[in-house]
Amino acid sequence: MYQILSKILFNKEVSPTYYNMGVDCPEIASRAAPGQFIMVRVSNQLDPLLRRPFVIHRIQRANTGSDSQVEILYKVVGKGTEIMSEMKECDEIDLLGPVGNGYRIDTNIRTAVLVGGGIGVAPLLSLAERIISQCSKLKSLILLLGGKGRDDVLCVEEFERLGVEVRVATEDGRLGHRGLVVDLLLDYLESRDYSPGSSTHCFACGPDSMLKEVSKIIAEKGISCQISLESRMACALGACLGCIVRTKSGGDVYKKVCKDGPVFDSNEIIWE
Ligand code: FES
Repeated sequence: MYQILSKILFNKEVSPTYYNMGVDCPEIASRAAPGQFIMVRVSNQLDPLLRRPFVIHRIQRANTGSDSQVEILYKVVGKGTEIMSEMKECDEIDLLGPVGNGYRIDTNIRTAVLVGGGIGVAPLLSLAERIISQCSKLKSLILLLGGKGRDDVLCVEEFERLGVEVRVATEDGRLGHRGLVVDLLLDYLESRDYSPGSSTHCFACGPDSMLKEVSKIIAEKGISCQISLESRMACALGACLGCIVRTKSGGDVYKKVCKDGPVFDSNEIIWE
């Protein structure tokens, strides 16, 4: 894990209240995996003092061919992210990472189903890029993306540029299907014939309510699924215990999302 003062390459609003920041940090980028996160300290002042966790959105290569940049997709929700949104190109930002376990990628995957809710789409872009580059037997890669409204549906063009099929749901119905992203998942799975143990894998990130439903639906189909519980993290340092989850590992064991995750097998979590 590295602590680095990194140069900001860009910081742009991609949708109202959502920003994408690119930072130059070869030490972190070259070791980062999709699903891992970085800890960001936005100021030297007492407030906000603590680092905040942000999942890695994208890992980019420099012309030299090695990974040198990471992107952070974030929503302005408080003082820290507001300060971040005002930072400019060439400003420096204090990063620590990469942290967490990231998604495991089985290179035998033939079909990958990505499910994202709101800002939960953030780690799925680097995951899609990694799946495409590593899984030579891949036949189908689909993203099911949900948000409250049109402004909460992010990165559609970036996924489509990769050749990913994208289906969208919004709660207000102003874009795509009116309803929840889990409706799209049900529809998608209903239209296919899956055998347990097939080379279909699901990867999800979003609010707990969505992940709980996804886990339930996937369990009925016998498909392997990894979920990122990053939305639960507060300190991300193992100190506050605000992120603990009950898991079936070894019977009934509490794990820390920030230390043991944020990615877990969906059938490992005991939902309260
Ligand atoms: Fe504080 Fe995990 S987020 S212990």
